[in-house]
Amino acid sequence: MTSEELAAAATGREAAATREAVITMLDAAVTYPNGKTALSDVDVTIPRGDFVFLVGASGAGKTTFIKLLIREVQPTGGRVIVAGKDLARLRRREVPRLRRRIGIVFQDFRLLPAKTVFENVAFALEVTGTSGAEIRRRVPMLLNLVGLHQHADHLPTQLSGGEQQRVAIARALVHDPAILIADEPTGNLDPVTSWEIIQLLIQINVLGTTVLMATHNQEIVNAMRRRVLALEDGKLVRDEPEAAYEREY
Ligand SMILES: Nc1ncnc2c1ncn2[C@@H]1O[C@H](COP(=O)(O)OP(=O)(O)O)[C@@H](O)[C@H]1O
Ligand SMILES: [Mg+2]
Repeated sequence: MTSEELAAAATGREAAATREAVITMLDAAVTYPNGKTALSDVDVTIPRGDFVFLVGASGAGKTTFIKLLIREVQPTGGRVIVAGKDLARLRRREVPRLRRRIGIVFQDFRLLPAKTVFENVAFALEVTGTSGAEIRRRVPMLLNLVGLHQHADHLPTQLSGGEQQRVAIARALVHDPAILIADEPTGNLDPVTSWEIIQLLIQINVLGTTVLMATHNQEIVNAMRRRVLALEDGKLVRDEPEAAYEREY
C-alpha cells in the first residue's frame, strides 16, 4: 500500500470506496432450461467486509443468485465475478477451489448424520487433504468460535436446530472463506434461536468475513439495519445501505 492509499483507508468513506469487491455481477441473468427467467439485469458489487441481506418473496430469485456465486448455475447473460475470478472463465477443475473460497450454509443444515460435531467439521478439511495435526488444531478453534466445543462428540440428532446450524457455520468457515453465504439460515429456527444465529453471523463479519444472508425474516432485517438487496421477480429492485426489509419511502 502507498502512503496515499493508507491515508485513504484511514478515512471512512474512501475506505469503503477502495475496498476490493468480493462479488460483482454485471447484467447477470439466469433463464432456466424450462424457459423460466429467475434473474435478469442484476448489477451489484459487494466489497470485502460487507454484511448484506438478500431479501424477497419466495420465488424472487434469492437461491438462484446464490447458485450463481458458487457456479452451481451458469449465467445465461452477463458476468459474475467472485473473489477476482470471472466465473465464465473458470475451468471445471477450478470450481472446487472457488467453492472453498465461499462458505455456505442452508436452511436445512445438511450435516452428515452418522458423524459427530467434530467429525462433521473435520471432514471438510479431510477432503482437501489437510493434515491430522492441522485438523486437531483447527476444528476446536472453530467449535469454540460457534460456542460448541462442549458438544464435539455429539451426533447431529443430539443437538437442537440452532446448534446444528452452528455446526454448519463452523464447517462453512474451515477454509477461511472470503465470503460466507447463508441461504435462509433461520428458516427452520424459532425466533430466539434465530437471533443467536444472527449474532454469530455478525460476529463472524466483525472478524473480517464478508457475509451475504438470504432471508425473508422481516423482523431481523429491520432490527439490524444493514445493506439490503431486494429481489422481485428476478430483478434487483432495491440496493440500500442501513435499510429495512420494505422500502420506506
Ligand atoms: N432448476 C430450476 N428450473 C426451473 N425453474 C427454477 C429452477 N430453480 C428455480 N426456479 C424458478 O426460478 C424462480 C426463482 O427461484 P429461487 O431462486 O429458488 O427463488 P427464492 O430462493 O427467492 O425462493 C422461481 O420461479 C423458481 O420456481
Ligand atoms: Mg430460496
